[in-house]
Amino acid sequence: MAEFDQTKRAFKLRSERWFNDPQDPSMTALYVERQLNFGLTRGELQSGRPIIGIAQTGSDIAPCNRHHIELATRIAAGIRDAGGVPLEFPIHPIQETLKRPTAALDRNLAYLSLVEVLHGYPLDGVVLTTGCDKTTPACLMGAATVNIPAIVFSGGPMLDGHYHGRLTGSGTIVWEARRMLAEGQIDYEGFMDLVASSSTSVGHCNTMGTALSMNSLAEALGMSLPGCAAIPGPYRERGQMAHATGVRIVEMVNANLRPSDIMTKAAFENVVAVASAIGASSNCPPHMVAIARHMGVDHTLDDWQRVGANVPLLVDCQPAGRFLGEKFHQGGGVPAVMKELLAAGRLNPQAMTVTGKTIADNLAKIADGDREVIRAYEKPMKEHAGFIVLTGNLFDTAVMKISVIDAEFRARFLSDPPDIFEGKVVVFEGPEDYHARIEDPDLGVDERTVLVIRNTGPVGYPGAAEVVNMQPPAALLKRGITALPTMGDGRQSGTSASPSILNVSPEAAVGGGLALLQSGDPIRIDLNTRRVDVLIPEAELAVRRAAWVPPVLLSKTPWEEIQRSMVGQLGSGGCLEPATLYLNILETRGES
Ligand code: FES
Ligand code: MG
Repeated sequence: MAEFDQTKRAFKLRSERWFNDPQDPSMTALYVERQLNFGLTRGELQSGRPIIGIAQTGSDIAPCNRHHIELATRIAAGIRDAGGVPLEFPIHPIQETLKRPTAALDRNLAYLSLVEVLHGYPLDGVVLTTGCDKTTPACLMGAATVNIPAIVFSGGPMLDGHYHGRLTGSGTIVWEARRMLAEGQIDYEGFMDLVASSSTSVGHCNTMGTALSMNSLAEALGMSLPGCAAIPGPYRERGQMAHATGVRIVEMVNANLRPSDIMTKAAFENVVAVASAIGASSNCPPHMVAIARHMGVDHTLDDWQRVGANVPLLVDCQPAGRFLGEKFHQGGGVPAVMKELLAAGRLNPQAMTVTGKTIADNLAKIADGDREVIRAYEKPMKEHAGFIVLTGNLFDTAVMKISVIDAEFRARFLSDPPDIFEGKVVVFEGPEDYHARIEDPDLGVDERTVLVIRNTGPVGYPGAAEVVNMQPPAALLKRGITALPTMGDGRQSGTSASPSILNVSPEAAVGGGLALLQSGDPIRIDLNTRRVDVLIPEAELAVRRAAWVPPVLLSKTPWEEIQRSMVGQLGSGGCLEPATLYLNILETRGES
């Protein structure tokens, strides 16, 4: 490929202030000399080549992203081929299933540390290696704050899992395996084998969980090359995409194409439509709101309701459907989904992307998806498959993911007009309390019960736990009642066929309305008005509020305490609030 003529660049590279400042030879020498000690040459550092960071999220304790260690060599080759110089650096690891108390605690920590690296080192652009759930939002949040040219390179899902001839998907199979173990269909060895069968190869979760959802949405946002998100980790196209991504970031630096050019309000609206169409994880709304806030873009849960609630589900992937990542990729992946939405008028066609072209341009030559896995817009899997945003006298915002709700609940809750559900709450003080008491017959759980869990939000847990999917007690399961409506200030992992009122904000631990609920309180869920209300007099609520004593929050690590002192609520992205004041820092806070 033709190398960019460095003399044609209309602006000075940021890195030249470190490596090539004729006014200050002594500092330049100091900056340059240590970079030479592993074999780089002065020629490479001082010839006006863009210095490109490769933000490495993979490690032995982050196995979902571990293959980025090898893929980085292909990214680096692409950077070299386009005339840049790659410098790989580590990101604080985030692994969803291994980190205690929850990986959600680490998103903001990884974000903070990435901001320091991008701001404090001589980088002209960055490749963000993403994969496991929180690595994608953490990287995009950091790139937004600093606003240097940035491109997402996803690690891709694992290969499809199989067990005795049937598909087994990450996360979803665990629920089924637990049931089979409980019913004696399999023993411990069978249980371990069945769950492990979903973990086939390098890559992140192969279901449409948070990882594949967030990488698909990064692509929909315009921040990765088209087609990047769904390529399975081990496929040769993954390595080829790594090379193409390395080439492209150098071109982006030369064109001065920045996150602020791409992550616009229109782009976030596109994300919302794609989220509905793919059946994205309920963790996506807060992550996207957080990225937008760090970008300084007005994007809130209102946009999720306004743009996405009535978009249909098009993708037949678990947990909302049947297939896994390989089929999604082979069927056309994110571009095929976006093509359907664009033709239906559900996307902003002029949104800019990392290609330097609009999404309409990017999608101009995309073929129709394989209809087995990516449906035509007119023949969707399910109508109205987005997130419903709720409010009421207990909270400001909460979300309900519609695409996974089973047919019976859909008929009741989403009929036109929908049913008004009235029942009584049973309240748990956290996951430990739920597990300890759910089988207690004195709770009086029946088919009109709403299971409530509190103290599981960003401050309470801390970090916000994935615990709002609560199963009914065994007595109800035996009667065939396998799901009840649930509500909580935490998040929800995997799939739940019941209506789940998630991410309740503000959370109980900071005095949100859930803190005032008592088991037995009557509650009404009305999806006509999108309200959830406890049916007790305001005067009684005021008495309870006056008597409320904040829970004692015991932090186990310094970071838990620091995060608790400044984290916001899930409804506004769960951001470190002081950090949201630092927008576009290279321009607004003085380049250094
Ligand atoms: Fe890492 Fe699912 S646990 S991607
Ligand atoms: Mg998760």
